[in-house]
Formats: sequence, C-alpha cells, structure tokens
Amino acid sequence: MDFEPFIRHISDFPKPGISFKDITPLLNNPKAFSAAAETLFEMVSVGKIDKVVGIDSRGFIFAPILAKKLDAGFVPVRKKGKLPFTTISESFDLEYGVDRLEVHTDAIKRGEKVLVHDDVLATGGTAKAVCNLVEKLGGEVVQCNFLIVLEYLNGPQKLNGYPLTSLLTY
Ligand code: PRP
Ligand code: MG
Repeated sequence: MDFEPFIRHISDFPKPGISFKDITPLLNNPKAFSAAAETLFEMVSVGKIDKVVGIDSRGFIFAPILAKKLDAGFVPVRKKGKLPFTTISESFDLEYGVDRLEVHTDAIKRGEKVLVHDDVLATGGTAKAVCNLVEKLGGEVVQCNFLIVLEYLNGPQKLNGYPLTSLLTY
C-alpha cells in the first residue's frame, strides 16, 4: 500500500521552518491504519523480540500493536516526570527544543532483544536517547522502526549501526 497519500504536510508547525508530518489521516483510515501496522510488523526481520519500546507519545500508537503481534512485552519510554517507579533518564536535543526521556529500571532485562518504535525519525535525538536507555539496562536494540524517516535531517547517521526500517522516507 502507498501510505504517502495519508500523510499531511503542515508547513511551519510547531515552529517556523518545520514541515510537520501529520499521521492522523493515516490513523483515521481503517485500511491504511491496519495496513501500516501489518507492514511495520512484516518489516521486523531479526528473530525473536522480547520487548517493543514505544516512545512517548506518538510512538504509543503502533508499538503496543507490534508488541502483541510479536508476542513481546510493551515498554513505554516517557517524557520526564511521568513514570512512577525508579527510572533512568537521558537528555537530548529535539528538532524543536530539549527534553528528557525516562524508562523504568525493571522494564528491560539484561540480554533482552528490543525493537524500538516511533512515528517519525527526524534529527534522531529522540531515538538515539532511547537506544542509550535500552543499552544502559543491558538490552540489545536489534531494530528501530518508524512510520516516517526524514533523511534530510540526518537521523539515520545518528542511529548508525542499528538496523532501521520505515514505511516512508523523505
Ligand atoms: C516527535 C516525533 C518523534 C521525535 C522525532 O515527537 O514523534 O518522537 O519528535 O524528532 P527527533 O528525531 O529530531 O528527535 P515530539 O517530541 O514532538 O512529541 P510527541 O510524540 O509527544 O508528539
Ligand atoms: Mg514523538
């Protein structure tokens, strides 16, 4: 399925110069939504996955679906101050701003194979911070998958070394 018609490009949102990739038309269409989940799942080609990590907040839409399909656990990585138990954290530069991401210390066990999922890879700061968190807990990032990769922002270079897949590339 061609997913491009279901992505809305919004100029200058949330700041001047940013071309925001709005995935809500894709979510809104039952066939596109279902096909996107199926295609993300089919692109996982790395053997048994123990945990799927979804990144707060737009990564929370497909990551649990992937976890269910892969018979894996779902791990939310959240923005600062949201997780109630003991956490570790990573700070990072965002395409627009600076932020900190956290994960529960018991979310991933040493040696577990981890798939990291988010909607968009832009500069790669977010996903790289998440890969660092997974590795701090002793997990192994075996793949990162995204709906959209914005190659012109050089995220793939930042994730150098991690197998990377996406539905769409700009
Ligand atoms: C967006 C997007 C990715 C991240 C990509 O999330 O959903 O998570 O930015 O940017 P990067 O590759 O430059 O780090 P955002 O922080 O806007 O929050 P949201 O998912 O809660 O909407
Ligand atoms: Mg996000």
